[in-house]
Amino acid sequence: MSAFDHHSEQFAAGWRAEYAELRAGSPVVRTPAHGGYAVLTRYADVRRALLSPRALACGRDLELDGVPGPVSGGVTIPTNPFRMGMMEMDPPQGTAFRKLLMPWFSARATEASEPHLRELVCWCIDRVVESGRMDIVDDLANPLPTLVTLDLLGLPLENWQRYARVLHEAAYRQKGSARQLAWLLEDLRDIVERRRLEPPEIETPVDALIAAEIDGARLPADTVVEMVFMLLNGGIDTSTSLIAHSLRYLSANPSARQQLRDDPALIPAAVEEFLRYFTPGTGLARTVVEPMAVGDTVLAPGERVYLALGSANNDPAEFPDPDRVDFARDGNRHLSFGAGVHRCLGAFLAPREMAVLIEQVLARMPDLHVDESAVVAYPVIPLVAGFQAMPATFTPGPRLGSAPSGDAPPARGERELLAAAELARAESPAGAAGTAGGVPGMDGVDELEAVRS
Ligand code: HEM
Repeated sequence: MSAFDHHSEQFAAGWRAEYAELRAGSPVVRTPAHGGYAVLTRYADVRRALLSPRALACGRDLELDGVPGPVSGGVTIPTNPFRMGMMEMDPPQGTAFRKLLMPWFSARATEASEPHLRELVCWCIDRVVESGRMDIVDDLANPLPTLVTLDLLGLPLENWQRYARVLHEAAYRQKGSARQLAWLLEDLRDIVERRRLEPPEIETPVDALIAAEIDGARLPADTVVEMVFMLLNGGIDTSTSLIAHSLRYLSANPSARQQLRDDPALIPAAVEEFLRYFTPGTGLARTVVEPMAVGDTVLAPGERVYLALGSANNDPAEFPDPDRVDFARDGNRHLSFGAGVHRCLGAFLAPREMAVLIEQVLARMPDLHVDESAVVAYPVIPLVAGFQAMPATFTPGPRLGSAPSGDAPPARGERELLAAAELARAESPAGAAGTAGGVPGMDGVDELEAVRS
């Protein structure tokens, strides 16, 4: 086997086998790719690494004793051209941001958003249901998370198609995507500047960020844009990948489809199993800041480490018969949302969105059939294991929604926005959303961290 490189086409084409081979060898594999990094592939090691933020940092430009020059760091290898918000901040720097945003993503907030989630799912299906054909990626998997995320954050939906395309193409490094990302960042900046001058009456997460004070000062516009971009980037293509993998699986496995139709109460467990088996976000990087022993190897300060989530989630030492998709799997403690202080903020939202979609697809497109010969997977999967195309057919059905069939998706109304803002305010540890100052350090365990960490 040539040296491990999670950016290679070879990895994209055969990551399961590659990981199985690595797992069976030493717990730490070192590769010279991208300046050199260590790879952890076993579940127990990856989980311990995620839960060791003092030894393994997410931050950038780290000055470490005895290590020459700042280490570029961050959660990707190689380091992202720009920082990805609190994902790339270590405690306590990211604490105030996480506490500020958490109330909008809590279990209660997600539950309260479900009627609107259903409306958006219905709207997406309505756009294609009469035709009997669609591309799962372009018509469901990419639009739905884009609409859900934009609307939840309080961003306008008018440019949703361009946002959806830009974030999707950037994920598989489509030519020209950097230029398109620059457009998106500029658009976000305009929105933030406008909202700063004229705050809306009802607060949304974007306005909470604009109004936030840290150490007595408002956040610079650049930081607000960075945080919003982090949310879009973290939330959209990962969910796109989960949706596409899951629907493709259900198309290829009629008995699994029937099982979920017969017993819809199994859908949430099925979603967790899809998250484990397919692992949309393939891996995360860290930088060693304190020596850490893994097996017989000591990871040294300054070393870059790749935590192979896709491998951990398919480790037979944790998941018996890992290659089997088993909706009745016991104790499915997958690591698809990470673990610990950076556990995914969308870890309640994304599975709910997926479950609602599966429910409606099973009801409205029960014979959905993916044209396997035309499926196009991303050529490389350094961050997200996704697809460029997944054409499918089904028996046409009637539209159900009240929303117009044109290109205007249903945004939340005033009443729903108000309810979301009130709930966020009630759930905010600071007592009032929008005031991050004075929030204690990353010593407590928040709601998301507590789940299965
Ligand atoms: C299937 C869907 C998703 C997957 C697989 C996923 C995966 C992940 C993973 C693995 C992390 C941990 C990063 C780390 O430890 O370095 C993470 C963090 C994060 N995710 Fe997600 N994510 C998903 C959906 C979402 C959604 C819907 C949102 C929001 C709209 C979101 C927002 C975030 C944010 C803000 C973080 C950073 C949390 C922090 O650093 O405190 N994600 N996600």
